[in-house]
Amino acid sequence: MKALLLLILTVWLNSQYGGCSLSSSCCYPPSKWCSSLESAIECGVLKHCLQSNFTKSRQTDDSVQVGLYYESLCPGCRLFLTEMLFPTWLLLKDIMSVTLVPYGNAQEKLIGQKYVFECQHGEEECLGNMIETCLLNMTEMAFPIIFCMESSTDVIKSAQSCAQIYSPQLRWDSVMSCVKGDVGNKLMHQNALKTEALNPPHEYVPWVTINGVHTDDLQQKAMNSLFSLVCSMYKGPKIPACGGNQKNYKNKCHNE
Ligand SMILES: *[C@@H]1O[C@H](CO)[C@@H](O)[C@H](O)[C@H]1NC(C)=O
Ligand SMILES: *[C@@H]1O[C@H](CO)[C@@H](O)[C@H](O)[C@H]1NC(C)=O
Repeated sequence: MKALLLLILTVWLNSQYGGCSLSSSCCYPPSKWCSSLESAIECGVLKHCLQSNFTKSRQTDDSVQVGLYYESLCPGCRLFLTEMLFPTWLLLKDIMSVTLVPYGNAQEKLIGQKYVFECQHGEEECLGNMIETCLLNMTEMAFPIIFCMESSTDVIKSAQSCAQIYSPQLRWDSVMSCVKGDVGNKLMHQNALKTEALNPPHEYVPWVTINGVHTDDLQQKAMNSLFSLVCSMYKGPKIPACGGNQKNYKNKCHNE
């Protein structure tokens, strides 16, 4: 699973950041390949661009919304996020959206003008939750960064280098000023409100919602195979990853 994940991640990152290589006639960075008809043709990815434009326009209507209410140091949360949620999202991100709410079983008190938070796994966890909350507010690469943190031995110590890998232009001191300042405090309070608004109220974390709904059945299915759950909940046209185009995967090359 780890090796597969690494492969997927590498392919995915290459598709986002890879250099000018594949064909000598294409010198657009991959992020620009689909930005014009000309670059798409020159880079030999027209079909891919048309398809991805098509899935993108389709995503808003039908995409399955997966919510995760969690805490940065809860072992079960870390396992679910790194081995189930993130890999599923890499494969199915055209048909699913993810909302992360780091707060979980924390408590808050208003003291003066600021909220003071108490976390189940102590100060460290409050810091981890706050870093992840600020990242979610500051960069579109928050999910890969959070995946990187949660799969590291030390969630907190890895934060800066994880951010560096996935979002090199993000300044770490600006993240820390969010973490230590009023913005982070307000954002964490919003996480508290979102968590307290859960209906039914959460009894444990990781707590999963699908299209805003939590039931024991959905939770269990998400824990067993989020991939199957999202594919089965998706109402739009079948996508190849969900088995909509199986012929492609049955082609074999025999060694005669
Ligand atoms: C994809 O969509 C973008 C914006 O919607 C558009 O500018 C671009 O030309 C499209 N690319 C292709 C290859 O159709
Ligand atoms: C980030 O937080 C600020 C302050 O609460 C808010 O106005 C803004 O919409 C947030 N941005 C994102 C991308 O969440």
